[in-house]
Amino acid sequence: MSSPGADQAAQWFAAQYASAPEGVWHAPGRANLIGEHTDYNDGFVLPFALDRGTFAAAAPHQDAVLELTSRQAAGRGAGAAGRVEIPLDSLAPGSVTGWAAYPAGVVWALREAGYPVPGARVAVDSDLPQGAGLSSSAALECAVALALTELAGLDVARQELAAIARRAENDFVGVPTGIMDQSAALLCQAGHALLLDCRSGEADSVPLNPARSGLTLVIIDTRARHALTESGYGARHIECEEAARALGVRTLREVAGLESLAALTDPVLRRRARHVITENQRVLETAALLRQGQVDGIGRLLNESHASLRDDFEISWPEADVAVDAAVGAGALGARMMGGGFGGSVIALLPQDGAAVHEAVRAAFRGRGWPDPGFLNAPPSSSARRLR
Ligand code: GLA
Repeated sequence: MSSPGADQAAQWFAAQYASAPEGVWHAPGRANLIGEHTDYNDGFVLPFALDRGTFAAAAPHQDAVLELTSRQAAGRGAGAAGRVEIPLDSLAPGSVTGWAAYPAGVVWALREAGYPVPGARVAVDSDLPQGAGLSSSAALECAVALALTELAGLDVARQELAAIARRAENDFVGVPTGIMDQSAALLCQAGHALLLDCRSGEADSVPLNPARSGLTLVIIDTRARHALTESGYGARHIECEEAARALGVRTLREVAGLESLAALTDPVLRRRARHVITENQRVLETAALLRQGQVDGIGRLLNESHASLRDDFEISWPEADVAVDAAVGAGALGARMMGGGFGGSVIALLPQDGAAVHEAVRAAFRGRGWPDPGFLNAPPSSSARRLR
């Protein structure tokens, strides 16, 4: 099934390479309902796929070369940077920078994993806002991973593909993220969130139909931009490892309960660990409520998650706190910052007519002289697939 986005990506490919692509693949961005900074602690997450994402139009290359072009990079006036050509045998961590490092990293990671993908031409297009905390990088990685493996006739299980895409980000691009975003891009089902146990890899689809309860999930783009490579994301990862080490466990998932945290003498590490432990609990409670069809019951857990990320994990940012307070004050059932932190988006659960909430958040931003936030409806959508 084609789509206007897929057709546009195919046209972009044709304009760049003067030939038609063999196919167009799509991977969605993600929202995370709840479960933040738990993935790299072997914990639980509950993301769902957005109805926006990244398109990769692709065709085999006769040489062992990866040719890449991005409509967004070209649009940013990147000129030649919108177009990149990389010999496959020169691929090594650190050898490619900027947006092209993500697709190049995928090719590197596939080959490292023993999947000898040949040369290819790939034209990338996206309708995801970048830096908004909606996992545009994972969408790019996963669209390219799916395109290249399918072009090569390789059948790679989706969970393995997610691990390969994560490796591209961790070891090629150099950002120490967890497995949530790539798993969401590759495993989510429409009308469902994905309950993922990041320790065992067990993945369960949990029904998520806010409309059936007269509700709607909205992403509020606070316009404050983050870059995971520059933010305190890596610092939090290290603190969690330190906390686990001090408690004598491999990861914070192994901590028996909040009582055990008394053994942590450093108050900062104690707060970081408390966030992770309570957040895991909230994910499981949220999933249980959703399984009972009680979407309206999860608002409280979203609010608690935000407080924990703000006060214990200390990764919220002023625009997120203002958006959450204004949204809840105007009738949202719950709201929380989403993603890695320090910028990006808030997710909010609203009554279906959320006009009052939109207006309240907008007014709160204007009152502070901030640019208007963006509002994006977020119906739980499907994972990556071939579109044409
Ligand atoms: C980013 C990372 C994920 C996850 C979240 C925080 O999105 O890519 O792996 O750690 O932050 O929950």
